[in-house]
Amino acid sequence: MLPLYHGGSVVLNRAKGEAIKMPIPRSEYLSNVWKDGIFDGRVVFVTGGAGTICSAQTRAMVHLGANACIIGRNVEKTESVAADIATARKGAKVLGIGGCDVRDPESLKRAADRCVKELGAIDFVIAGAAGNFIAPIAGLSSNGFKTVMEIDVLGTYNTVKATIPYLIESAKRNPNPPGDGLTGGRIIYVSATFHYAGMPMQAHVAAAKSSVDSISASVALEYGPYGVTSNVIAPGGIEGTEGMDRLSSTKTDYRETAKHIPSGRWGTIRDIADATVYLFSDAGNYVNGNVLVVDGADWRNKGTGVGRDLSMQYPNYLLNWAETQKYVKTGRKEKPKL
Ligand code: COA
Repeated sequence: MLPLYHGGSVVLNRAKGEAIKMPIPRSEYLSNVWKDGIFDGRVVFVTGGAGTICSAQTRAMVHLGANACIIGRNVEKTESVAADIATARKGAKVLGIGGCDVRDPESLKRAADRCVKELGAIDFVIAGAAGNFIAPIAGLSSNGFKTVMEIDVLGTYNTVKATIPYLIESAKRNPNPPGDGLTGGRIIYVSATFHYAGMPMQAHVAAAKSSVDSISASVALEYGPYGVTSNVIAPGGIEGTEGMDRLSSTKTDYRETAKHIPSGRWGTIRDIADATVYLFSDAGNYVNGNVLVVDGADWRNKGTGVGRDLSMQYPNYLLNWAETQKYVKTGRKEKPKL
């Protein structure tokens, strides 16, 4: 199994006898196509911001100029990840608000108000808080189903309700398209692809994520006229995340299991951070009400494959087509021999 992503390393300053936190290298969470400063003076509010994917999205935004406020249930984890993300840029302000459960609308509203009071605004929102575990319907109580629906669906709805007044204000200050390249008034939801075709042992999450996609569409329709954009990012399996760790067998060999993915690998946190920067930046101005799937075409590769036997594994039967076609009945008419 691959190691979980972690914060930057710590080195000892011998002269001062103190530990210094080293920033994670940019290349781990951001590609080099983005210009520094494209989110200068902007503020991003992130639920589930201490998680592996959302912290990378936040780190990318902070690196490119934004200040951030991350929300989580665990106080210690949320505050320490906030401090770690702040190392992405000198002078960055990253507020970590722990003890906040997205299922509680009041605690979310308090967090949003505090973010605006301390950082001045909410220009971008990432609704990333989610709950997941593997369970077949037979092993999933009504309360288990409800718990995930409450975290993902109600939590997302509560996030929208708590932040939309601030997003509308930001959209007013940042007309779309922007004259100066600086943007605001945008929300992204971190969803999934489970629900496109359905997935065993994920009935609760599939139901929840289709609702999240649906909320995004409603926000685009109702708040588009106020200048707000609302889009979903649907990651495939992202290596090194808590989600993959929870949802994988302990006997898994990641490289082997990635073979069914058309792009031939699992995703990285950088793939998702880059998609986030695109949607929030001046490059994503006219993208609204959309679902951006970032999964190497994984979800599309569901079929067992017409015309192949069990020995023909994807993608080998395509890459060795000369061999494969010896066994595939084409149905082509034989040319007349005479
Ligand atoms: N299989 C089946 N049911 C499960 C389960 C599992 N692995 N884990 C929890 N449940 C059920 C519980 O049994 C309970 O139902 P019951 O009252 O009928 O027994 C219900 O879910 C609520 O569990 P509880 O532990 O009280 O919920 P919680 O609010 O404390 O925790 C979870 C929420 C269950 C989603 C927990 O896994 C969590 O906190 N996850 C956060 C991190 C996370 O999931 N990240 C996802 C990254 S993709």
